Amino acid sequence: MTQHLLHRPRRLRRTDALRRLVAEHTLSASDFIYPVFVLPGQQRREAVASMPGVERLSLDLLLHKAEECLQLGVPVMALFPVIETEKKTEDGREATNPDGLVPTVVRAIKSRFPELMLLTDVALDPFTTHGQDGLIDSTGYVLNDETVAVLRQQALVQAEAGVDIVAPSDMMDGRIGAIRETLEAHRLIHTSIMAYSAKYASAYYGPFRDAVGSKGNLGKSNKKVYQMNPANSDEALLEVSLDLEEGADMVMVKPGLPYLDIVRRVKEQFARPTFAYQVSGEYAMIKAAAQHGWLDEPAVVLETLLAFKRAGADGILTYFALDAAKWLKQA
Ligand code: PBG
Repeated sequence: MTQHLLHRPRRLRRTDALRRLVAEHTLSASDFIYPVFVLPGQQRREAVASMPGVERLSLDLLLHKAEECLQLGVPVMALFPVIETEKKTEDGREATNPDGLVPTVVRAIKSRFPELMLLTDVALDPFTTHGQDGLIDSTGYVLNDETVAVLRQQALVQAEAGVDIVAPSDMMDGRIGAIRETLEAHRLIHTSIMAYSAKYASAYYGPFRDAVGSKGNLGKSNKKVYQMNPANSDEALLEVSLDLEEGADMVMVKPGLPYLDIVRRVKEQFARPTFAYQVSGEYAMIKAAAQHGWLDEPAVVLETLLAFKRAGADGILTYFALDAAKWLKQA
């Protein structure tokens, strides 16, 4: 039964040392961006039912998370505000309040932990009574240029508060150029823009909308008139090319795992810093299976995160960031 084979690919899989030596990709805490949900007030902690293990936290409790990011080597924390119902308006004007929740929390965290980078979402959905990312007309259609005018202000307020990365997630046309122009005009030349460039109209955002409380407001409406159609892939390349031309430093594909083909095409075509967002619904699916004992959570999470790297992502926004960083240390 002996064969004389020229190639035996199994030769390089025999020991752990060999497997590590020939590994094409690695995962480290430096690859992660940790998204958190921010509550106003103090000493407040609320579980998010559809995201087991994730809590909305007030600033004082969030500082512990910030410290944990630093200790574990996670370079960025992404802030998502939970805005009180009384502060939501049809025009989402709270989004541009320099003393609003986001700028206040940015200033507080940056003064305590200047080395930790912060990323903030630029979009109006946490601030509007209708839950859309922009201003709407009488038919409910989300207006583009009118919205961009507000997003410029929102990004400016965040940048002036000291955020490191602004991340427009609204999918309005021309918003990257407008925000870049505004930042330049104010000499905020060190603020990076990570564009949610290929952001799809996805059902995987459900748990996030629970977490920030925009789901009820959105009701039965959806975001299909501005977020991308999941049927499209060439269109993602157009979106990325526009955002890069308009001055984005980094681009993102969202959701993550079901869109790895897009990550790969974007990275190959543009060779620029490319990120993927493992969104709330992806987190919920893994958690639910793990809670039933159907999947080995650490193993599945690390395998999934490595798959993002293999597809071409330079980093991943993931609610597993802190856990994954801990598991990598133990490995
Ligand atoms: C809002 C925004 C969303 C997410 C990030 N920013 C939701 C949406 O577009 O409705 C989703 C994140 C997640 O599901 O984890 N502009």
